[in-house]
Amino acid sequence: MSTRRCRVFCVVGARPNMMKVAPILRAMQADSKHFSPVLVHTGQHYDYAMSQVFFEQLNMPDPDYNLEVGSGTHHAQTAEVIRRFGEVVEKDRPDLVLVVGDVNSTLACALVAAKENILVAHVEAGLRSFDRTMPEEINRLVTDSISDFLFITEESARVNLKNEGVADNKVFFTGNVMIDSVVSSLDVARRSNVRESYGLKPLDYAILTLHRPSNVGDAVQLRRTLEAVATVGRELPVIFPAHPRTANKLREMDIQLKFIEDGIKVGDSGIWAIPPAPYIDFLGLVDSSAMVITDSGGIQEETTYLGVPCLTYRDNTERPATVTHGTNQLIGANPENLVSAALEVLSRGKRKSEEKHEVPPLWDGMTASRILDVLKDKCCA
Ligand code: UD1
Repeated sequence: MSTRRCRVFCVVGARPNMMKVAPILRAMQADSKHFSPVLVHTGQHYDYAMSQVFFEQLNMPDPDYNLEVGSGTHHAQTAEVIRRFGEVVEKDRPDLVLVVGDVNSTLACALVAAKENILVAHVEAGLRSFDRTMPEEINRLVTDSISDFLFITEESARVNLKNEGVADNKVFFTGNVMIDSVVSSLDVARRSNVRESYGLKPLDYAILTLHRPSNVGDAVQLRRTLEAVATVGRELPVIFPAHPRTANKLREMDIQLKFIEDGIKVGDSGIWAIPPAPYIDFLGLVDSSAMVITDSGGIQEETTYLGVPCLTYRDNTERPATVTHGTNQLIGANPENLVSAALEVLSRGKRKSEEKHEVPPLWDGMTASRILDVLKDKCCA
């Protein structure tokens, strides 16, 4: 059987896309007999701290196309990606467009490809929070409904897709590609001196991330949340890499957070803000933290892989395997629950960083190669 080289547009838009695309791009570059990858950055995230530093730390080349769409309302941002990506695809047609995750760029590029009759692969398909007030849920539903190859990270996704009428033969359980990046970066992260540079002791601090509009958009909710975290911060320092949206809101509310300047001294506690952390730094910080409090999707999975207790400050999760197989606890977006759940984690005493823990099936660092095996079989034959 003759082999056809498959030209694949790999799309990144926002920060959580980078660590999913990096391993796939690397694997495609290494298999030039079957694949000719082209990296497209929509520019949804554009700050050095939200974008470029991730390219550097994940050893990604400069994008072949940078659409530079920048910020805007969801509608404007999505429309602008559609317009600009459409122009690229009209001139330079790939065999396949590969999108990851659930951000506006994921939906926009999948839509352009589907309308141009170009094959679409969606990595991290089938996850559902069943909460349509989340923009990501709409992005997931629409992207999955127009994709040709749906690569899933956990079995719940297969059930969700089946219930939505997606044909079984489009669905491939290949595991979690974000864990490929964790596996390949963990040694470097563990050797980095980021923790020491902040004066933190292993397992003696917590991490907080908040960026969902439902948590940070409303001043009353945000203030109550930070008051709850401050209670936890009496027990141990809470390190808070602040997302641009959150930082803007705090400025608007005139809330002054403490910033770490000379490191944390013995007895220091409270909430310590830092700028958005680069990938390796964040991984290193999470790996030796006592616990993470977050409203992110991906961090629920990284903590599960690392065995770090995770309190998810949301009413739902689209990633149930992190609860059934992992360290994630869904506490609701409720400040009282946050305090009691965090104190409960601390009362269990220090976790042992080398403690054995369960990891969901196929979260093993080999997902990119399984995805390529499927695509090779279907697109390059
Ligand atoms: C997006 C994704 C979300 C993901 C998150 C990770 C969608 C619908 N949401 O949300 O799923 O978890 O990224 O961060 O796609 N900003 C900057 N610099 C940047 C990027 C953003 O200052 O480089 C600011 C802008 O003020 C912008 C705001 O952050 O308006 C929000 O950015 P946006 O990309 O719209 O959404 P995220 O909240 O980052």
